Amino acid sequence: MADAFQPYLLLINGPNLNRLGQRDPNTYGTETLADVERRVRQVAQAAGVDVRAFQSNSEGELIDILQREGPEAMGIIINPGAYAHYSYALRDCLADLSTPIVEVHISNVHRREPFRHQLVLSSVVTGQVVGLGTLGYELAAQYLLQVGTRSR
Ligand code: DQA
Repeated sequence: MADAFQPYLLLINGPNLNRLGQRDPNTYGTETLADVERRVRQVAQAAGVDVRAFQSNSEGELIDILQREGPEAMGIIINPGAYAHYSYALRDCLADLSTPIVEVHISNVHRREPFRHQLVLSSVVTGQVVGLGTLGYELAAQYLLQVGTRSR
């Protein structure tokens, strides 16, 4: 008999987010990426849901992961880093998915440099959590656990 499908949230972090905890703590806080992943896992596991977490500094690799793991995920949490401001390739990739997607930004990008005010993924994600620090990832997980259904 085939194994039962184990639902999972896909947690994606883009470029430079591997440096969380060390990179500009005034803006991004002191939690590391491992701390963030642990926190999201705790929330998901309490609901019997797995978390598949990936970080990459490469646009193509992020797209490969999303194409592979996105369609079956219960929901996607993505902090695209600076790709949020200009990656039409990532936008096309997310637009191709029917999975609920929450875009997270740790900092309030609208209070920062003008180039960060443009968010090119906005119209292809379900919603955004912006400026609430690393807590934003946990809030995104809580939302997706409530509304996310396995696509297909
Ligand atoms: C960020 C905001 C982006 O402008 C920046 O390039 C990042 C992190 C955030 O989480 O606040 O790498 O996505």
